Amino acid sequence: MNIHVNDWDRRGLPAWTYHSQALLDLEIKEILLRQWQIVGHVSDVPKAGDYLSFDLGPERAFVLRQQDGSFRAFHNLCRHRGSRIVTGDQGHCKNALVCPFHGWVYNFDGTLRGAARPDSFADLDRHKFGLKPVELEVWMGFIFIRFREGPQGSVSEQLAPYAAEIGAHLPETLVPAGKPWVGELPVNWKSVRDVDNEGYHVAMAHPALQDLYGNTYEDIDYGPHMRVSKGTYREGAGRLWSVRHYVKQSTGHSNLPRERRRLWAYYGVFPNAVFITTPEAIQFYQELPVDVNRSIVRGMIYRYPKESRQQRLARYLSYRIDRATYAEDTQLAIWSNESMKSSAFDNFHLSDHERFLRAHHDDLRKLLPVLTLDTPPAPERMAEVNAALGAGKTGT
Ligand code: FES
Ligand SMILES: [Fe+2]
Repeated sequence: MNIHVNDWDRRGLPAWTYHSQALLDLEIKEILLRQWQIVGHVSDVPKAGDYLSFDLGPERAFVLRQQDGSFRAFHNLCRHRGSRIVTGDQGHCKNALVCPFHGWVYNFDGTLRGAARPDSFADLDRHKFGLKPVELEVWMGFIFIRFREGPQGSVSEQLAPYAAEIGAHLPETLVPAGKPWVGELPVNWKSVRDVDNEGYHVAMAHPALQDLYGNTYEDIDYGPHMRVSKGTYREGAGRLWSVRHYVKQSTGHSNLPRERRRLWAYYGVFPNAVFITTPEAIQFYQELPVDVNRSIVRGMIYRYPKESRQQRLARYLSYRIDRATYAEDTQLAIWSNESMKSSAFDNFHLSDHERFLRAHHDDLRKLLPVLTLDTPPAPERMAEVNAALGAGKTGT
């Protein structure tokens, strides 16, 4: 959709917000830990005792499949001396969770079964030392957690505008298509999202995507924080090898309504994730800050449990196109992020086609008013200044 707006502010967040450790600490605490984060899919943890771990900033958690098939999430932190309880990204525990440090044993529901050498704790009250729970919700087969209570309601309320469209792909029935992909980028987490949040660069920077859906690309508002981009490919598309063969092989799954059989759609999950639906699969990916200049980007792809040879081939080709796109975006994020350290950088000057980028920055500013400042407060005053601005005081 092309909306020409004459009087909007074409600038984005100021450069300092991409290179301040004190700000990142606040972003993690006040935004990322208070929003729902996608950990994986129920099919990643099919059996009781299967777990997925998830680290974000200073916090670390894991999701555990229970004996009755349900899920619980806990801080991945032993109540004795803080060791990780489960190790690695994914795994399985038999019957109980055993801390690898001194061997305290926890039940699947998080209660402490017992300490090693309990006689060495004169008065240990087991009921006081269970694993600390983390809020969890399963939405359409995807497992979300939230470390701190936040401004959003439940996942199902937040993502309700997407439910019918993503639901058409039968997400509960999907299974992992291989291992997660993980990359580490030398950029602030916001730079990853900035590149991702606009389609203005597609024609220039993504030859395969441009070849695939070209000018059918559109950005559509689905409500506050809810931004969707869509492109539909044409029968004859395919100057490039991978696109030509993809278009030939991709027939879509028979359950899909006609209008989704040639559609690639990107559903933003505020503030740091996206679901992509293609006729062959659903993927999510997210960026997670490691430090102020480093982020992990992590994605997982899920496929239909029964797919024909042709569908498998189409999925593989769509993966190739998507991976090429990711590599191109990575370079753009690096250049954008490093430019903000240069004396020549004034700010962005955004096109109407980059309005989603601007809207995302507005959303962040609402949650963290300190982002409205053109110059950074002293690092030790970051939280205080932010609170004062939030309370309507202007003095900084
Ligand atoms: S830290 Fe877990 S048993 Fe000691
Ligand atoms: Fe891109």
